[in-house]
Amino acid sequence: MQLKVFKKLQNYLIQDPFAICKLANITPTWQQAEVLKAFRPGTKIVIKSGHGVGKSLLLALLVFKWLIIRPFTGNPFLANTREQLRDINWKRINEVYNRFPKWFRDIFTITKNRVFVTNYPESWFFAGRTGREDRTEALQGFHNCCFIVDEGSAIPDEIYNVAMAALTEESSTLVIAGNPTRREGFFIDAFKNPNFIKFTFNSEESPLVSDDFIRVMREKYGVESDEYRVRVLGEPPQLDEKEGRLIPDHHIITALKRTEEDIPLDESEPLLMGVDVAYSGRDRSAIAIRQGRVLLEIRVSAPHVGDTMKITEWVIATYEEWKPDRIFVDVNGYGAGVKDRLQQLGFPVVGVMATEKPIFNPELYFQLRDELYFKMRDWFIEGCRIPNSKEFVEELRHIYTDTTTTGKMKIMSKFKLRKIMGKKSPDICDALALTFYPVGKPQLIKRFSRRSPSIRFRKYSSVTGY
Ligand SMILES: Nc1ncnc2c1ncn2[C@@H]1O[C@H](COP(=O)(O)OP(=O)(O)OP(=O)(O)O)[C@@H](O)[C@H]1O
Ligand SMILES: [Mg+2]
Repeated sequence: MQLKVFKKLQNYLIQDPFAICKLANITPTWQQAEVLKAFRPGTKIVIKSGHGVGKSLLLALLVFKWLIIRPFTGNPFLANTREQLRDINWKRINEVYNRFPKWFRDIFTITKNRVFVTNYPESWFFAGRTGREDRTEALQGFHNCCFIVDEGSAIPDEIYNVAMAALTEESSTLVIAGNPTRREGFFIDAFKNPNFIKFTFNSEESPLVSDDFIRVMREKYGVESDEYRVRVLGEPPQLDEKEGRLIPDHHIITALKRTEEDIPLDESEPLLMGVDVAYSGRDRSAIAIRQGRVLLEIRVSAPHVGDTMKITEWVIATYEEWKPDRIFVDVNGYGAGVKDRLQQLGFPVVGVMATEKPIFNPELYFQLRDELYFKMRDWFIEGCRIPNSKEFVEELRHIYTDTTTTGKMKIMSKFKLRKIMGKKSPDICDALALTFYPVGKPQLIKRFSRRSPSIRFRKYSSVTGY
């Protein structure tokens, strides 16, 4: 294309915010139009919304617009998983591309995870990246560019930190869209950041979302439910304040009903084992085995009298069956002995002191135990599959939330829970909550790499984001 013609095209796209839609013969919805009007080099935009309002298609339009208005830039397109990137984002990018007139299409080449200006594959492009790759270095080297992020709520903060470090120049641009599935993290915090232009799109107000979808969601979950908030209203989940329960019933029921078809096992996720060691003779020890969104197995020991060696044997037997990548043991009490012995024997064990300060959000949570329980809650809200165990469900229904005098969130103390649950303690929940501890730091992974080759290069789980 001649330089003169290209300049003309560039001016057209700069001056008319809807030019890119006209080229693709797409009429933007009023919600998409709002973002198109706000988008220009240097802006930081964050969009939270319910399902199906056309976010991913909008991001695809922005890819082409940016490549014309900012020549010779290399830009990352980030999504939470490879599947999202391939099955949704690149599909939308192709969908938009195929609608362009031939002369416009000829400017670009699209490959499996790249869109580039033909002849400049290395210097003028968008490249697909995933937040799960844990290779933050994959995001380094991008400067003065446009970061486009889809499913932003599911991207780990670590990735955002790298992105923000790269976005120092004035014309650096950031567009993040997503379903607000979590109450915390960079995505939701951006809504309090004055540097961001913020949009919230309610699916009820989108011409693209069918009345049927809204009706089904309303009937199935109720307008007050977190599902309705997250998937329709585009608002983050709330605590179930009315009942004060950590995990509302409908989340438990849906998790129980889900089949392998609803949530297939993702074997690329680390296989994690949580071990809650009984504190006294009247409790039992519990083991939970989780991989990504699936709780695969629950085991409960017979009541014991504090024989840590017997418990260790039991843990090892379970380990040998499942070969998890990590064993997390609560080291408060007898668990310390179990963890030491496992470590001595060379198992990939991590001791978790649940009474310590939270790792990620000490402002919000009281102790690490509380933070892990709230991560477990997010896992339920975002969608998981659990085995049918009456005992486990009973425990889940009896976890109540509390706040400290300083306003930090916590779950009710074990002492109070025991009273409510009739002297029993939530052992299985404790074991499951432990699996939300960070998978491990690089040096740990190195040390255990002989036993856990599958996660040698992975620093965190894509489900929890760390
Ligand atoms: N302006 C538009 N006109 C017609 N169809 C559109 C428009 N924008 C998006 N669509 C179509 O609407 C559907 C939903 O769009 P899209 O996947 O972009 O929504 P989303 O908000 O990303 O959804 P989700 O919340 O599931 O991620 C797709 O089939 C897409 O092609
Ligand atoms: Mg989408």
